[in-house]
Amino acid sequence: MSATYTIDTATSRANPTPAPMKRLTIPAIRRAKGKTPLVMLTAYTVRTAQLLDPHCDLLLVGDSLGQVVYGLPSTVPVTLDMMAAHGAAVVRGSYHAVVVIDMPFGSYEASPEKAFESAAWLLKQTGAAAVKLEGGTAMGPTVKFLGERGIPVMGHVGLTPQAVNALGGYGARGRTPEEAAKIVADGRAVAEAGAFALVVEGVVEPIAVELTQTVACPTIGIGASARCDGQVLVAEDMLGMFERTPRFVKRFDDLAGRISAAVETYAADVRSRAFPGSDQVYAPRD
Ligand code: KIV
Repeated sequence: MSATYTIDTATSRANPTPAPMKRLTIPAIRRAKGKTPLVMLTAYTVRTAQLLDPHCDLLLVGDSLGQVVYGLPSTVPVTLDMMAAHGAAVVRGSYHAVVVIDMPFGSYEASPEKAFESAAWLLKQTGAAAVKLEGGTAMGPTVKFLGERGIPVMGHVGLTPQAVNALGGYGARGRTPEEAAKIVADGRAVAEAGAFALVVEGVVEPIAVELTQTVACPTIGIGASARCDGQVLVAEDMLGMFERTPRFVKRFDDLAGRISAAVETYAADVRSRAFPGSDQVYAPRD
């Protein structure tokens, strides 16, 4: 199967970014450590990618799409095929941001070789620049193996949602000194193995600060600290698509409310025959 990485401008409903920009690179992301904070959001579809891309340094095709797009109970059931389909759409909808794609649960943990096979397939299918995988010290050899073979890896430590069955929930991590020390060791191991950036999710703030101060790559926080080198959120959360959001999310809009209001008006217009109006119907040629 071959993938198309560029949008068909003749059939796309949206105008592509007017002046296609030079895409940011992995070395540029690395160099951002300690400078202006990196902006990252999740994107799963071409249209969302088009809207977010000019404002973001990184777009993450997160396996959170399992819950957000598919209504699954966790990220555990997400497959490589699902990630590939959404990843290719996000690459088609973006010109500027580095696109990072999550490796789904079960596609990389067994061995570095298995991880390489899955990651190489994902990058071929999507045109994304890098993969993200969850885990700490145990994943160090895999991060190194991929990096040495040309696959940039973003690490992910702290609350690692793919491990929800082992962790027992999505609560913040690192509340005991032992757990905090383990997360710091995990982050360092992944960074030392060559990760180009490190997501630090759902940890007590001092862990995020310590990791940011001690690892060479940029840290990207989510439920972590404003002192990280960047921040990431699930776009649907920060846009207010859901009534319930986690504590660490700031809602920058109320899209759920606005969509409901628009659809209520549409339904009323259909029922009263106010829609379609004369502007929306075709007249015969004279
Ligand atoms: O899957 C995802 O969306 C993520 C981010 C929230 C970091 O891993």
